[in-house]
Amino acid sequence: MAKLSINVNDPVGVINPNIYGHFAEHLGRCIYEGIWVGEDSDIPNTGGIRNDVVAALKRLRPSVIRWPGGCFADDYHWQDGVGPREQRPQGVNIHWGEVPEPNAFGTQEFVRFCRMVGAEPYIVGNVGSGSVRELREWVEYCNYGGDSTLARRRAADGSPEPLDVTYWGVGNENWGCGGSFSPEDYGTEFRRYATFVRGFGKQLYVIACGPSGNDVEWTVRFFRKLKKDYWDFRNIHGFAAHYYCGTAGTSTAYSEAQWYELIWKGLRMEDLVVQQRAAMDAYDPQRKIGLIVDEWGTWHPAEPGHNPRFLYQQNTLRDALVAATTLDIFNRHADKVVMANIAQTINVLQAMVLTDGPKIVTTPTGYVYEMYALHQGATAVRTTIESDTMPVTAPAGGGDLPLVAGSASVKGKTLFVTLTNSHAAQAVELDVELLAGVKADGAKARVLTGDIHAHNTFESPASLVPVATKVEARGSRFTVGLPAASVVALEVALA
Ligand code: AHR
Repeated sequence: MAKLSINVNDPVGVINPNIYGHFAEHLGRCIYEGIWVGEDSDIPNTGGIRNDVVAALKRLRPSVIRWPGGCFADDYHWQDGVGPREQRPQGVNIHWGEVPEPNAFGTQEFVRFCRMVGAEPYIVGNVGSGSVRELREWVEYCNYGGDSTLARRRAADGSPEPLDVTYWGVGNENWGCGGSFSPEDYGTEFRRYATFVRGFGKQLYVIACGPSGNDVEWTVRFFRKLKKDYWDFRNIHGFAAHYYCGTAGTSTAYSEAQWYELIWKGLRMEDLVVQQRAAMDAYDPQRKIGLIVDEWGTWHPAEPGHNPRFLYQQNTLRDALVAATTLDIFNRHADKVVMANIAQTINVLQAMVLTDGPKIVTTPTGYVYEMYALHQGATAVRTTIESDTMPVTAPAGGGDLPLVAGSASVKGKTLFVTLTNSHAAQAVELDVELLAGVKADGAKARVLTGDIHAHNTFESPASLVPVATKVEARGSRFTVGLPAASVVALEVALA
């Protein structure tokens, strides 16, 4: 037995749709094969972009997609990826297997892909090996509506109208693959770059590189530096941390203990959100600068038979539980988190979609995004959950894992509740109470559940898909059955 109380009249904040963002890097088969197959491919495509992938992603409602990296971003020179494709230089992807980079997929192709799936583009500039001029000109190429050589080049490349890119990142992981900077040195670089990232009449959203995991020291030293030298500096709108919860076992082979261990590691995201926001609040109490987590997810050993640098991994019900519990954290902290981008969209790490030649499969994680889409833009409301816990031993500590978790949001007369039961073997009867005199008048529910190792393959693509389930929700108290190892999405009509 577990208990959930929801106070519909106690709002936390509007859930920024950008929390449901993705990340697509030139890494392994994410871009090439995953998105881009070229116009001459036998795989059905529109202008080189796979139709099946676009259709699959659209169903998940990705709000924003971050590109071109990752580590790749700080070795990417955007001019290599525009102009006639046959004239683009062939480079080498130094971070991801030293494989050839054909530059066939560049700025135009990326923005076109985003528009096809209904997402906003988020472009990450090159700080580590690029120049301020390069980034400033990239923005001009994308966004300048007047007459300039770069605007004319954009028109010649097929876009007479500005590409209208709002989100710009100033480097990626600049404490590591993005240049090995100290927080103070990155602070200096950030100011220099951001000074020249101009909107050309459009309000941009400029994002600084945040810490590796929950490294509060990076955050404090970066903001202290910014404050000390230049505190009237305002061209910073977001600050982005990265957190990978890693693995326990492999993508598909794990014990029950490892099932719990990985979910527990995923839940450390809550510490990151609370502690990073608190560190930022000391410098930005009005929260003008948004906390972002623009890379997160599971990271298993690459599948045997695949290039280990391509980070290709299967995705099971365990990954779905990690995705669901993490999205619930972001929803519950809608007042703190403004964007999050799972790593990565296709064929890399915790992907939404896997492809193999012409075959495609949506992963359990992809289905979680589909199930959770109604939260986008709704108002998160305060919830309390009492449930049993499971003691977990993990390399970095361990502790008690709450077995039932979730979040709730309201839009109009609909209350949307998402829930997880992490117990590997036991179903839970959840007693739901709507506080403050609010009453339910019926509900629809979908559930994703199976064996703890369940996953979809190219041979069996529908082994694990969400199914509709019956819930009797009337009045201010009702019960919802949560099967063992499950994600449940509940759409409640309010009386
Ligand atoms: O997502 C894979 C890699 O993980 C990214 O390139 C990098 O930013 C992070 O370390």
